[in-house]
Amino acid sequence: MKKLITAVVSLGLMVGTASAGTDVEADRKAFVGHFKSIKPNVEFADYTNGVYAYDEGSRDQFEEILDGIPPYEEAVEKGGAEFEKFGLGKCAALADPAAARVKHPYYDEAAGTVVTLEGTIRKCYTEQTGKKMGTMKGKLARISAWVSDQAAGEKVNVKVESDGAKAAYERGKATFYAKRGQFNMSCADCHVYQAGKKARADILSPALGHTTHVPMYRAKWGGIGTLHRRYGGCYKNMRAKPIMAQDEVYRDMEFFHQAMSNGLEITDARYRK
Ligand code: HEC
Repeated sequence: MKKLITAVVSLGLMVGTASAGTDVEADRKAFVGHFKSIKPNVEFADYTNGVYAYDEGSRDQFEEILDGIPPYEEAVEKGGAEFEKFGLGKCAALADPAAARVKHPYYDEAAGTVVTLEGTIRKCYTEQTGKKMGTMKGKLARISAWVSDQAAGEKVNVKVESDGAKAAYERGKATFYAKRGQFNMSCADCHVYQAGKKARADILSPALGHTTHVPMYRAKWGGIGTLHRRYGGCYKNMRAKPIMAQDEVYRDMEFFHQAMSNGLEITDARYRK
């Protein structure tokens, strides 16, 4: 218990709004250090496996699913075919899909905003076809999963450099640590301080590594969904009203959230229950 309180205090103190004092690497080290202190035996690299890094009970099942034909394989292949069909490789930002996955999310200086991989895919799709694309599942999630597959084995490497980027990062961090909803809880309450503990039928996953396998397949969804779809689900878990996927609030939070996973491998093992 003492450990938990110390962790809450030290991580809590990192939350600020001024960009002048932003030190992403220090934040990341504190983040990793916290998980190391609650689970000393879990290897850093294993955090790409989400809850299965902590939940020994369901680890075997997870590995069996990955050893067979994972339920998302067909959908990801379809995403690759759609990438071709819609000519998405003609957009400079997606010409090298693996590089695109590694580059996003990034802070666009000219636009003054965080750009997500899904944002870039949607923009390119509209340029190529004249049509709009959804924000949470279907084509977008399939194509984004296929693009991400091309970068499997490369490392998350979010760069937060300019003052504008730092301000976006701080806004995202504040959203992650803010209490909200009927339960007055924050993302960190479940995925940092209570990670590895039980919440009803679930073991809570560590936020470290949360973004390495996105878009994720969920058995509960029966399909692939984007990180922002999952954000919406967790807002509901918190009894708070979800924000629209790809809204700036979620893009900023993703910027922080992915930066905390810097150094972890991007994985194509996207199964979650
Ligand atoms: C009341 C506890 C609770 C809160 C608060 C909460 N979540 Fe979750 N979250 C869950 C549960 C339960 C799951 C499913 C099991 C797991 O992976 O942790 C989950 C899953 C996730 C996942 C998927 C992890 C993976 O490996 O695929 C992400 C990402 C996530 N939450 C992000 C957030 C964010 C961001 C917030 C704050 C907006 C948040 N959660 C708030 C309970 C919570």
